[in-house]
Amino acid sequence: MPPWYATFVLPYFYGGSQTWGETESKLTAGRVPASLRAHAATPPGQSPGITASLGNMAQRQRLDPGMRAVGVTEFGGPEALRIVELPGPVAGPGQVRIRVHAAAVNPTDTGVRSGARPDLYKDVPPPYVPGMDAAGVLEQIGEGTSTDLRIGDHVMAIVVPAGSHGAYSERIAVPAESVARVPAGASDVAAATLPMNGLTVRLALDVLGLRPGQTLAVTGAAGAVGGYAVQLAKAEGLFVIADASPADEQLVTDLGADVVVRRGEDFSEQVREASPDGADGVIDAALLNDAVVAAVRDRGRIATLHGFRGEEERGIAFYPVLVRSYAHEQSKLDRLRQQAEDGILTLRVARTFPAEQAAEAHRILEAGGTRGRLVLEF
Ligand SMILES: NC(=O)c1ccc[n+]([C@@H]2O[C@H](COP(=O)([O-])OP(=O)(O)OC[C@H]3O[C@@H](n4cnc5c(N)ncnc54)[C@H](OP(=O)(O)O)[C@@H]3O)[C@@H](O)[C@H]2O)c1
Repeated sequence: MPPWYATFVLPYFYGGSQTWGETESKLTAGRVPASLRAHAATPPGQSPGITASLGNMAQRQRLDPGMRAVGVTEFGGPEALRIVELPGPVAGPGQVRIRVHAAAVNPTDTGVRSGARPDLYKDVPPPYVPGMDAAGVLEQIGEGTSTDLRIGDHVMAIVVPAGSHGAYSERIAVPAESVARVPAGASDVAAATLPMNGLTVRLALDVLGLRPGQTLAVTGAAGAVGGYAVQLAKAEGLFVIADASPADEQLVTDLGADVVVRRGEDFSEQVREASPDGADGVIDAALLNDAVVAAVRDRGRIATLHGFRGEEERGIAFYPVLVRSYAHEQSKLDRLRQQAEDGILTLRVARTFPAEQAAEAHRILEAGGTRGRLVLEF
């Protein structure tokens, strides 16, 4: 497991923090919450509410009307992901329902799978379905829901997962404010890479509040958050210094960075070489934490992605961002759609997988080095 994943936490989703390593050792010690173990077993003689078999058509037929999703009945490694059968959701007031064709695989999903915060699930029955990005066709509008979206529109949504509600599902009901049309010309697969990470960057730029001409430094620039950060910052007239491994230099240059520096713990020194007074702001998508502080000028601003706040120093302000606070910002999501249509944002798909192969997608993500997003198809 790369060190980056050893520090994987879920504060932007649920608040608080716990390392992947801590979680893993708890699971190894067999301390899976009792509620989870109880619900994971199928009562004898009863049709299971959850079905752990892959592609079992007969069972699927019997459980109809329902839907397939990918989730876990017991927390664990990638192999814990299974096809589960769930009742199909109904769009309630203020909601719409999407027939999901594509769900992006994000780092946070691995925390839902592994049980990074078992305390959060102790009163919630499994299966637990990850996924914060969905795209597909709008198929139902809840009663009294005010929206200009129409049945049959191709749409994308940010999903805030909870229990068995997650984007790795054939169907999902979400607030209408979490949904926008798919960018014209983009497939559902490509569109699924945009909502969650695009809104994260929108939020980070909003809290940093930089003016055109000011300097933004970005870590993890080859990744999903970092890549959108470089592109949106350039669109706002910022001067962008971004990191890259030698293999990613061209990619990060193509994304629009003005200066590309070598990635690593000496990020701050390299930013200072390019901008001796320091950057006005930083978006730290690589979770370098303390190592980025020296990159910002006195009274500069740092947006962090996993809750990090550094020591009081030189009037620097830390802004841990939580994308769920933008989950109902439909106009911001729709602006991202427009920016993708205008070529400001590039939707990068690394590879697609049938939903049944979600475990393989998680393995690849956790190995590191993927450029562009992995996407599950339903
Ligand atoms: N707070 C929120 O609301 C929120 C929202 C979205 C995402 N996030 C978090 O933001 C982080 C980035 O997400 P993402 O989707 O952009 O992940 P990603 O696509 O995997 O990108 C992360 C990038 O950072 C690079 N990296 C890893 N370790 C590094 C290091 N020590 N120095 C420099 N670069 C390093 C990775 O390279 P390799 O692939 O070579 O390792 C990768 O290019 C994740 O931790 C995610 O959970 C938080």
